[in-house]
Amino acid sequence: MKFYLNGTLQDCAERDANTTLLQYLRQGAGKTGTKEGCASGDCGACTVLVADCDGAMPRSINSCITPLGALQGRQVVTVEGLAAGAEPHPVQQAMVACHGSQCGFCTPGFVMSLAGLYQRCLDTGRDAPGRGEIVETIAGNLCRCTGYRPIVDAAGSMMGYPKRSILGALERQSGAQAPQEDAAALLAGEHRYYLPRSEESLREILRAEPAARLVAGGTDLMLEVTQRFVQFPVLVDISGIASLAGVVAEGNYIRIGAATLYRDLLEHPLLDSASLANLLQRLGSQQIRNRGTLGGNIANASPIADMPPVLLAWQAEVAISDVEGATRWLPLEDFYLDYRQTVLQPGQYLSAVRMPKSAVAEPHRFYKLSKRYEDDISSVMCALSMTLDGRRVTAVRIAYGGMAAVPKRAVAAENVLRGALLDDNTIAMACAAVSTEFQPLSDVRASAAYRLAMAAGLLQRGLLALRDGDTADVFAGQAVEVSHA
Ligand SMILES: Cc1cc2nc3c(=O)[nH]c(=O)nc-3n(C[C@H](O)[C@H](O)[C@H](O)COP(=O)(O)OP(=O)(O)OC[C@H]3O[C@@H](n4cnc5c(N)ncnc54)[C@H](O)[C@@H]3O)c2cc1C
Ligand code: FES
Ligand code: FES
Repeated sequence: MKFYLNGTLQDCAERDANTTLLQYLRQGAGKTGTKEGCASGDCGACTVLVADCDGAMPRSINSCITPLGALQGRQVVTVEGLAAGAEPHPVQQAMVACHGSQCGFCTPGFVMSLAGLYQRCLDTGRDAPGRGEIVETIAGNLCRCTGYRPIVDAAGSMMGYPKRSILGALERQSGAQAPQEDAAALLAGEHRYYLPRSEESLREILRAEPAARLVAGGTDLMLEVTQRFVQFPVLVDISGIASLAGVVAEGNYIRIGAATLYRDLLEHPLLDSASLANLLQRLGSQQIRNRGTLGGNIANASPIADMPPVLLAWQAEVAISDVEGATRWLPLEDFYLDYRQTVLQPGQYLSAVRMPKSAVAEPHRFYKLSKRYEDDISSVMCALSMTLDGRRVTAVRIAYGGMAAVPKRAVAAENVLRGALLDDNTIAMACAAVSTEFQPLSDVRASAAYRLAMAAGLLQRGLLALRDGDTADVFAGQAVEVSHA
């Protein structure tokens, strides 16, 4: 297994399959500028930039939850790779000038996130990033002593320094990697890490390795390694399989590959929905969206995952493929059996998700409630899709996350609404019906009573917004961001 670290080739074949990129950087390569804060993707202290060897734009990721094997054939830039000799990178100069650092523990992570933004601005010929873009860029980086104002100031002024691209150094490495043997284990050690490039190879590996565990972005799975100290005997990374990624129109459906990144869902023309864009911008951080996949969100079977309620409202089906090469489509609502249990059997994997184009085109609203606005898991997630003929409801689908052991439709509320005149009385009855069919838990995020009240409140908000053609709530995210200014 080989990759470039700040332009220098690394050979890691003897590392264990469960090694994270951060562990390699700090303990293997001596690059201790990259810090470990939480080891769970939450603080951003471990942020580095990653690019393919084809000159593509480098993206920020959390190295603490990225498996080392996922870097095969790619390029990693750490904070040690930014300066040109003794001259700091413009982001570093701006951080110094704006007093953007005190204890300095978070600083390398902020600098790397901002270096990614700097590079994007440089590449698109922009003089300065907008405030919204800056806030979005550093939403996955926590600072506990400087405060964010000087860091935001540094981001606002970084383009004013003499320009410096890190792309030149990266592009020189293009094509330096030999093509990999598809079905060979990349990382040896005690355990094995595979990175197949086709579904055929994936099936071959799954047949040979019954204990194999799939990893896509690792933003859920790698927490098992860093928080619970699990050591997986065999990891099979599906991020290099082209047929499992991308969004396409297929007949009456929109089909999304299971390994499609959130980053690639955002603003995809086939998924033209302000409500979805709002939700995705609040799903994790930029570092998470650069690694996390739709299929991982579904297969992880968390009751508080953000995408399943959306997909339930959009009548989604999932494609389940097996080692024999067979694929069957199943409605998403039949995919979840119980808390963290799905119908997936050993040797099976999710290959795609599809929704009818007509379902995606129906008026809809997606609402996420979380304790913190950015980079936080939902307390309650509500997805509503509804079609009206005048004021009569002709079609409706409502789904919740955080309200039951699995993401679930609100069938009683739907029954109240379907065919009814959408007056205030009907809305009140639908909201009341929600509390008859859900018995949510109380936990660290929210009490059961709060969840029930919010579920009814969000439904009321969505029904009123769709009935009255009110779009203000869709842009609530932007409104909150402006109010921070
Ligand atoms: C800091 C942080 C913030 C987060 N914020 C959010 C948030 O706001 N909202 C939210 O919903 N989630 C959030 N998550 C959770 C996570 O990012 C998402 O669930 C993400 O979609 C998981 O995708 P992945 O590709 O990283 O999955 P992985 O971690 O690679 O895999 C997750 C599970 O799914 C299995 N799997 C993956 N792909 C397949 C497949 N194709 N077929 C069968 N099984 C498969 C794996 O074996 C594993 O069990 C957050 C996570 C972190 C660390
Ligand atoms: S160490 Fe906190 S996000 Fe990686
Ligand atoms: S400078 Fe101390 S945590 Fe940010």
